[in-house]
Amino acid sequence: MITRKVHCLQGNMTVPGDKSISHRSIMLASISQGKSVITGFLRGEDCLSTIECFRGLGVQITDNGDEIIVEGKGINGLQEPKDILNAGNSGTTMRLMSGILAGQDFLSIMTGDDSLRSRPMARIASPLKEMGAKIDGRCNGKSAPLVIRGGNLKGIEYRLPVASAQVKSAVILAGLYADGTTTIEEPVPSRDHTERMVKAFGGNIKREGNKITVEKQELYGQTVRVPGDISSAAFFMVAAAAKENSHLRIKNVGLNPTRTGIIDVLKEMGADIKLENLNTSGGEEIGDIIIKGGKLKGATIGGEIIPRLIDEIPIIVVAAALAEGTTLITGAEELKHKESNRILTVVEELTKLGIKIEELSDGMMIHGPNIIKGGTVNSYGDHRIAMALAICGLFSEGPVKIENSECIAVSFPNFEETLRKIIF
Ligand code: S3P
Repeated sequence: MITRKVHCLQGNMTVPGDKSISHRSIMLASISQGKSVITGFLRGEDCLSTIECFRGLGVQITDNGDEIIVEGKGINGLQEPKDILNAGNSGTTMRLMSGILAGQDFLSIMTGDDSLRSRPMARIASPLKEMGAKIDGRCNGKSAPLVIRGGNLKGIEYRLPVASAQVKSAVILAGLYADGTTTIEEPVPSRDHTERMVKAFGGNIKREGNKITVEKQELYGQTVRVPGDISSAAFFMVAAAAKENSHLRIKNVGLNPTRTGIIDVLKEMGADIKLENLNTSGGEEIGDIIIKGGKLKGATIGGEIIPRLIDEIPIIVVAAALAEGTTLITGAEELKHKESNRILTVVEELTKLGIKIEELSDGMMIHGPNIIKGGTVNSYGDHRIAMALAICGLFSEGPVKIENSECIAVSFPNFEETLRKIIF
């Protein structure tokens, strides 16, 4: 993909469905009793991997173009897969499914692509083994392929060593199969879509302070309306906020407060952002985001806000590169364990474009404003790095050519087409 300097971004647009909510809708619908109907589902590669994995477990899932229909099997209705389950590039598929598979009295083997096979899995294997599942994998059980023989789980009290919604969700899902109570304590709140959706599927799950408790139970099929993904909207929000004369409305975006750190940071950087048409569906806040272009200033980003914007850091760095002054991002060492080592890839690729950025052990320091000179960069197969680099091109002196940009299909299949419609 090649992007070039534009004058402004204008118009009304939508972004594809929320990735986290799309994954969870298939998972919970599959283990619920009765039929579920999902609209707004993200047909990106990651969520399609989740569908394929649940088909492998005997669940009938059909896509009629408008809706995804899942014939739920009930909490104990999944079947032993006849073959290896492939989560592709998707950490959410592998980690959340591990929680469900830990509850099954059969053998499952799960693998993924090169990137996923190099990402840490001990973080889910450890609590799930404590609950009674047998889990092994490469590198002494730390890496996929993972082999899971589940069943006979017992509830545990688990304090998460890292603020990870994937680990939290894996333990919650296993808790739906465990005898006794499962209690999870989060150091810092992370996205809570699993908790909200378990409730929306008729389940009983409680939160008191930073502790979540759940017990063995049945769930019941629902209609799920997936909102637009704020993590996908973020690329357009930053582009419009940093480009004078822009005026963009992104309609129907998920505004769950555990995900809106990007709005808080852009406002702190001086961006003109408003929310309209606020409503709630399936326990999730939804609304339109309206952005007007202007000048941005640097910000200090760290602490409790990090889990609320972890996936948006690559594009926040682009905003910081265009902003006046220094931006400091700390407490984000988790970036090293994403689809690529996002501290390294962001620093290396943005440096190639002429941006002044320093690598820190747990984040980055960006000195702005920068004149982006353009050039050839690489996404390293990481969808969010590819899209962040594409946005750089809209501000760049020369064109920006992004190699390996096909990975954008992981979360935003028609990104380029969507972008072309709103740039002038
Ligand atoms: C996700 C949780 C986050 C996020 C990922 C999606 C989820 O990962 O980065 O893109 O859907 O639960 P961690 O749980 O590893 O922080």
